Amino acid sequence: MPAPAWQYHEPDHPGADFDALAEIYDRNMQKFRDVQGEIVEILDFLALRPDQSILEIGTGTGEFALAAARRCARVYAVDLSAGMLRYAEKKAQARGVANVEFLQDGFLTYRHEGAPLHAIVSQIALHHLPDFWKQIALLRMAGRLAKGGKLCLRDVVYSFDPVKHGKFLDEFISEASERAGPQFAGRISDHVRNEYSTMDWIMQGMIERAGFETERAKHSHGFFALYLCTKI
Ligand SMILES: C[S@@+](CC[C@H](N)C(=O)[O-])C[C@H]1O[C@@H](n2cnc3c(N)ncnc32)[C@H](O)[C@@H]1O
Repeated sequence: MPAPAWQYHEPDHPGADFDALAEIYDRNMQKFRDVQGEIVEILDFLALRPDQSILEIGTGTGEFALAAARRCARVYAVDLSAGMLRYAEKKAQARGVANVEFLQDGFLTYRHEGAPLHAIVSQIALHHLPDFWKQIALLRMAGRLAKGGKLCLRDVVYSFDPVKHGKFLDEFISEASERAGPQFAGRISDHVRNEYSTMDWIMQGMIERAGFETERAKHSHGFFALYLCTKI
């Protein structure tokens, strides 16, 4: 069935062309993020059992999906980008992981038809949607979980004081340049200028209105947030 004319067209999102970037993106993430630490943080919260299935939306190069697959029966790994999925699928083959299903789809269009889900995870992807559509995406995620199901959401979410945004962003971006080089700092500027990252209080409100209780929220550098939530 075609999407209604008023629905946000997900592939039009501003930001990087992920199709062309998979390998570089994967390398940069290993360099600039504590990818393994982030995975452990989420897996500890999920406490997956071998009979459970989970969904990851915006799986990218699949690092989380592949780690989670070793703890549960099946991972449905959804992403809009064919290039990212191809790259993730190759990693799965190289690592001998066979229980991840890679699916090209989006937050607003993916229809889950597999086994009931224990949890949904999304990292650094929801900011690709404008706020209204983030709310719709969160409602759709809640709709796919039973009571007690888990949501782990990590994203670029602003918890700095917007009154002082100029000073904060200048300092944050200049520190990033010192730590990781001007190209990386440029990507942060691009993100702030073009992408749909929202403020923490708005994100918390949207999570709550979608029917989740936030059990733990962790903020880092005023710029990133992780919400570990349960469907009520
Ligand atoms: C910044 S990457 C994050 C990848 C990975 N989750 C990580 O933490 O490194 C964002 C990913 O979200 C995907 N994406 C963007 N908009 C999306 C949407 N509406 N639905 C599903 N995936 C989307 C992109 O193709 C890209 O692979």
